[in-house]
Formats: sequence, structure tokens, C-alpha cells
Amino acid sequence: MPNVHGVTLSLVASGQKRTDAEVAVVAAAKTEGGVRLLGQALTEKRAGELAALLPQFGFTGGAGSTQFVAGEAKDPADVLLIVGLGAVDADPTSEQLRRAAGVATRTLAGRDTAVIDFPNTTEDALSAIAEGASLGAYAFTAQKSVVPETSVPLKQAVVATTMKPNKSLKAVLERAATVARHTKAARDLVDTPANELYPASFVDYAKAAAKGLDVKLTVWDEKKLESDGFGGILGVGRGSARPPRLVQVQYSPRGAKKELALVGKGITFDTGGISLKPPASMEEMKSDMAGAATVLHTALAAAELGVSVKVTAWLCLAENMPGGNATRPGDVLRMYNGKTVEVTNTDAEGRLVMADGLSKASESEPDLLFDIATLTGAQVVALGQRTAGLMGDDAAVAAVKSASEATGEPFWPMPFPEEIREDLDSATADLRNSGNRNGGMLKAGIFLSEFVESDGKRAKSWGHLDVAGPAFNGGAAWGFTPKEGTGFGLRTLVAVAENLA
Ligand code: BES
Ligand code: MN
Ligand code: ZN
Repeated sequence: MPNVHGVTLSLVASGQKRTDAEVAVVAAAKTEGGVRLLGQALTEKRAGELAALLPQFGFTGGAGSTQFVAGEAKDPADVLLIVGLGAVDADPTSEQLRRAAGVATRTLAGRDTAVIDFPNTTEDALSAIAEGASLGAYAFTAQKSVVPETSVPLKQAVVATTMKPNKSLKAVLERAATVARHTKAARDLVDTPANELYPASFVDYAKAAAKGLDVKLTVWDEKKLESDGFGGILGVGRGSARPPRLVQVQYSPRGAKKELALVGKGITFDTGGISLKPPASMEEMKSDMAGAATVLHTALAAAELGVSVKVTAWLCLAENMPGGNATRPGDVLRMYNGKTVEVTNTDAEGRLVMADGLSKASESEPDLLFDIATLTGAQVVALGQRTAGLMGDDAAVAAVKSASEATGEPFWPMPFPEEIREDLDSATADLRNSGNRNGGMLKAGIFLSEFVESDGKRAKSWGHLDVAGPAFNGGAAWGFTPKEGTGFGLRTLVAVAENLA
């Protein structure tokens, strides 16, 4: 069953005294002495009264806090929802607005209409509010036989602005809605259980999702993978009854001068293989295809937005299972670029499929090549659940840094210390896929760096994004982020594409 997404966005001038909306959402800042209401939704008198009243309800204005209040005659709606931004300097940051808008629409699940009247005087701020509102209006209900009213996402959000609501602002809203829709589609894929989402069904999904868009799909099935020598993808997939796939999704607009290539890890389930994972939380390994979901929907979003750069996404799809035909520890795989790898741990499978994808993607010598993968537990140990690891050459790191400043998605730069490479030396093969646990995130990146080349061809610039933590939220929803799949990285990669154009 397809998942149902909220929310339709529209634009209105800020400070409407009466609207048709069920709820009007107003932002509040946390101040030294209490709470300050922001924006133009309320009269000065009313804002002052609420600032005095709200602390008595225990509302602090802290980030993520909410309070419903009965609306009065001059308020924009019969119900007010006050959302805290945390402490605010002169103006709220775009990320404060994005998160608060997400908190608002999440809180308003089960309702039909809301007007969100947050302060915004720039297109960036408006875009953040629109994105947050749309990203918060989400629930994955495809597997529920009964969907409770209260988990149906908000249907309509009217975003208020003090700027002139002209054509270019409408375009800002539309872009935000498109990017959010693709982010939510990526979340759906992550949330979909692995009995439904496996390499072949992922391919069917990608074909359906690409319908009507200016993109071309090319699929390698197990026979073609074999004849073309994709030893990494095949070696990981062979323990499963459901064979692996490689998919190229190409958006190639007329006149594009540059190419952005993206490689996504698409392990539809990671049991660890013969090096079996312990049972605790293994169900979360349905999310091990988040990278593939992200690159697919980044390419589709770029096509839908008409970004004037070529975007080539590579989906490395396999199920890592310990079947009778599975790769054993000690087996040696011949990878797509000819290097041999001794598999010392079958649970270090991501780097094997990604290596083949990176080599293949390098053949066109793209201007920028990124891979995105739920690659290592070590990423979560080092940076926590919400910050991704960023590795690669200076140009790639700079491209992600500057894009992510605008999107608010946190990426933290990590080094490739040269002494770490020797732990990947193998007695029998060119290298092995795992060593000791020291610098686990960096070691995986260093492994991949050996494969950003095929037949002497290489990408002009390469970056590696380890999103093991940020891709999946095992805790409670917060800001615009739901439980489970987050869609992390898509907005930044779309921005990277736009900046390259
Ligand atoms: N998919 C996992 C990494 C992961 C762990 C993602 C936790 C999300 C949350 C990956 O395939 C894996 O198992 N990595 C191993 C590598 C090790 C065997 C060298 C790991 O991190 O333990
Ligand atoms: Mn693994
Ligand atoms: Zn994995």
C-alpha cells in the first residue's frame, strides 16, 4: 500500500486577523526572564498577555516545546498553537524555523488546516518554514490495517510571510514542497520492511517513481553483474535467495556542462551474513538501503526541479544473508576494478557493494562524485545519532560543507590518516575488507578510496558520507524528523547539485 503524505502548502500575507484555518501557529522565543512571542500574527497587546500567561502553563519557549491556547476574537484562528524556538538572537535561524515548523505540523496530525505565521523576511527563512512544515507532516502507515485519525498528517498548511507574496516566493514554496516530497519518499523506502523491499522490488519501485520524469534507468541483473565482473555486489548478494541488482538512474538535461555522480548503499537487509549480527535491534537493519533511497530520490528531485546539471545515481542493491551459498570469511572477491579483496568479515558488506558502484561511477569521470552509506557503527560511536561523517578531497568536502550550511543537515569532516591503511593489508589478496576496530569509520572510507578508479579513469573529485546514525531515528520524533527513516542527506545533495549547476 502506498504511504499517504501531507501537506499542501500555500502562501498568505502575515498578520491576518481571521483565517479559515483550524489552528494558527505562532513562534515564541525563550528569553532570560520568560517567553517572547514573535512575528505579526498577534496584536502587540495579545502577544504581551500571552507572554505573561504562557510561563504559568510551564511553557518555556525551549526548542521543540508546544502549548495550545484558546484563540480570541482578534486572533487568526479559534485555536492557537505556540511553538518554542529556543533562545533567539536578532532573528531566528533558518534551522530554528525549519524545526519549529516541523514540530507544528507533527503536533497537528489529525487536523485539516493550519496557518503558520512565523517571522520571515528572506527567501531562505520562508523556504525553511515551508520545508519544515512539509517534512513534519509525515507518518508511515502503509503497514497499519487501521490508521488512527490522529496519525493522519495535516492536510493543508498556509505559510504566512511579511514579504510580498509574489511569483518568486511561490516558486520558493514549490521547490521546498518538491524536495520535501522526495525526502518523504526516501523515508518510506527506509521504513518499508525487507520482506517487501528487496533488490528486485526496489528496482520496480525505482521504475515506477521515475515515470513521467526526464530520467533513464539502466538495470544490471545477476547475469549482467556476472558478465561485467561486479564481484563485490555479487559476493554480498549470493547468500540471499533474492539476487542483487545495480541500477543507474540518469538525469541528463540538455546543455548540462557538469556531472554529479552519486553512489548509494542499498543493502535491503543486513544480517551480517556468515559473520552474523547479534539479534538486538537487528530489525533496524532494514534501513541499510538508506543511501540508495537517498541517491534515487536526489536524482528524481533534480529532474523534477530541472536543475541544469547531469545527475547520475547508482543504486548498489543486495541483501546480506547467511544462506548456503553465502560468501565465507576468507573468501576472495575480484572487484569491478580488478582489485582482489579478502572478506575477513561478511558484515563489512557495505564497502564491498559500494566499491563496485564507485568504480563504475568513476568511468564517466564526473566532476563531483559522492557516495552515501549507512556504512559503520563506528560513525555513530564517533559522531552520535544526528551528525554524519564527511570524508574526501578538499573540493568535495567544501561542496558538502557549503550546501549543508544552507540545509541545516550536520556533516562533520573526518581525516584519512595514512597509517590506517596497513590494517587493511591481506596475506592473500590485494586488501581485506576489515581489520581491528580502531578508526572504523575512517578505515571504511580509506577502503573505498581504493576503488574510486576504473581502468585509469577517475572522478575529478570524490567525497564519502557515512550516515549510519542520521539515516534512522530509533528514538522519538523531534523537530521535523519522524521515527525510523529520516531522509537525511537528500536535501544537502540536491543543494550540491544546484550549486554545481
Ligand atoms: N550496516 C552496518 C553499519 C551500521 C551499524 C549502520 C549501525 C547503522 C547502524 C554495516 O554493514 C556494518 O555492519 N558495519 C560493521 C563493519 C565492521 C564489521 C568492520 C560495523 O560497523 O560493525
Ligand atoms: Mn554489515
Ligand atoms: Zn550494512
